[in-house]
Amino acid sequence: MDTSLTYDDVLIVPQYSELVSRKGADTSVEIGHVKLNVPILASNMSNVISEELCMKLAESGGIAVVDQFRSITGQVQIIENVKSKKLHIAGATGVTKDFKERAEALVVAGVDIVVFDTPHAHSILAKSAVSWCRRKFPNVLIACGNVVTPEGTKMLIDAGADIIKVGVGPGSACITRVVAGVGVPQFTAVSECAKVARKYGKFIIADGGVKTAGAFAKAIAIGADTVMMGNVFAGCDEAPSEFIVRDGRKYKSYFGSASAEAKRVRNAMDPAHKVYENEFVEGVSGLVPYRGSVSGVMMEYQMGLKSAMSYSNARTVRVFQANARFTRVTSIGERENNLDSKIEPR
Ligand code: XMP
Repeated sequence: MDTSLTYDDVLIVPQYSELVSRKGADTSVEIGHVKLNVPILASNMSNVISEELCMKLAESGGIAVVDQFRSITGQVQIIENVKSKKLHIAGATGVTKDFKERAEALVVAGVDIVVFDTPHAHSILAKSAVSWCRRKFPNVLIACGNVVTPEGTKMLIDAGADIIKVGVGPGSACITRVVAGVGVPQFTAVSECAKVARKYGKFIIADGGVKTAGAFAKAIAIGADTVMMGNVFAGCDEAPSEFIVRDGRKYKSYFGSASAEAKRVRNAMDPAHKVYENEFVEGVSGLVPYRGSVSGVMMEYQMGLKSAMSYSNARTVRVFQANARFTRVTSIGERENNLDSKIEPR
C-alpha cells in the first residue's frame, strides 16, 4: 500500500537564489493557445460562477469555468459575453444526458476550453465523452476529470484530453472520503498524475483543497499547470453566493455540487430532470470567509507564488517545477506552520 501526502504534509525548502526581488518571477503558464498570467481557474460551481466573476477573473490573469448546472442557453450567454470582450473563458459539461448538445454549444460559442466534469473520470463514460469530442472537434482544447491516478490520467490522454483535472475528495465542501472512504491525498495525486501528463506533453489542473496562497504554490511546484479553486472564489464579492455576517465576522455561503442543497436548487431550476435530494450526497453546505474582490485575491495568490518561486531560484513556472524541493512535515511541525499558532489578529 502506498503512503500519500497532502499540501499540509509538506513545505517547499528554500534554496540559494539569484532573484534579487520576488518581482523577477514570471507566474504565467501557456496551455495551448490559452496564456494565463496567474495559473488559476474558478470552479464550475453554481455558487461560484457569475458573468461578473468570469470577467474579473480573466482580467486578473486567470480563467473561470462556467458551470453545467444552468441551461445551455444561459451558459452560452455568459461565454459569448466574455468572448465579446476577448477574454478567456472555459465551459463545463457532464458526461451523460445532454452532454453532446452542451459541448457542441460551448464550442460554437467560442469557448477556450471544454471541460468534461464527473466525480469519477477513470470511467467508460468519461472515456467515451472525450473521444467523441476529440473526433468531432479535433482542434478544441479538451479538459477532463476528476482522476487521481497515473492510470486514469493515461486513459484520458489516450481518449484525446489535453488537460487532466485531478482531485477526488480534497474539496472543502466534499465528503466523498467520509461517506465512501475514497480518494487520494491531493499533493501525491497531483504529483503522480503530472508525471504522466508531462511525458505526453499534456497539462494538469489541481482541483480542490486550496485555501491559501501557500497551498497554491505547493500545487504548482509539484507539477500542476493550473489550480482550480471553489471556496476561495465563493468568498468573493463577484460570486453569486449569499453574504452573511455572524458574530461580527463576514462570510459567504458555499455548497458542494453534490450536496443536498445543490440538488434542491437544481430541482427548482429544472423540474424536468428532478433528482432525489438525499441520494448519493457527497457534498456539504456552509460558510466560507468573505475575501473581498476577485482582483484582490488574485493579487494575493500571485504574490504568494512569486515569493515561493524566488525561494527556489526560479524566474519561470517551469524552472520552479524543476527546482522545487520539499520536506515532509510532522504533525507537531504542522502546528508551527498553521495560522492558529501565530499571534492573534488585533
Ligand atoms: P475547494 O476546496 O476549492 O474545492 O472548495 C472545489 C472543488 O471541489 C469539488 N466539489 C465537490 N466534490 N462533492 C465532491 O466530491 C461535492 O459536492 C463537490 N462540490 C465541488 C469540485 O471539484 C470543485 O472544483
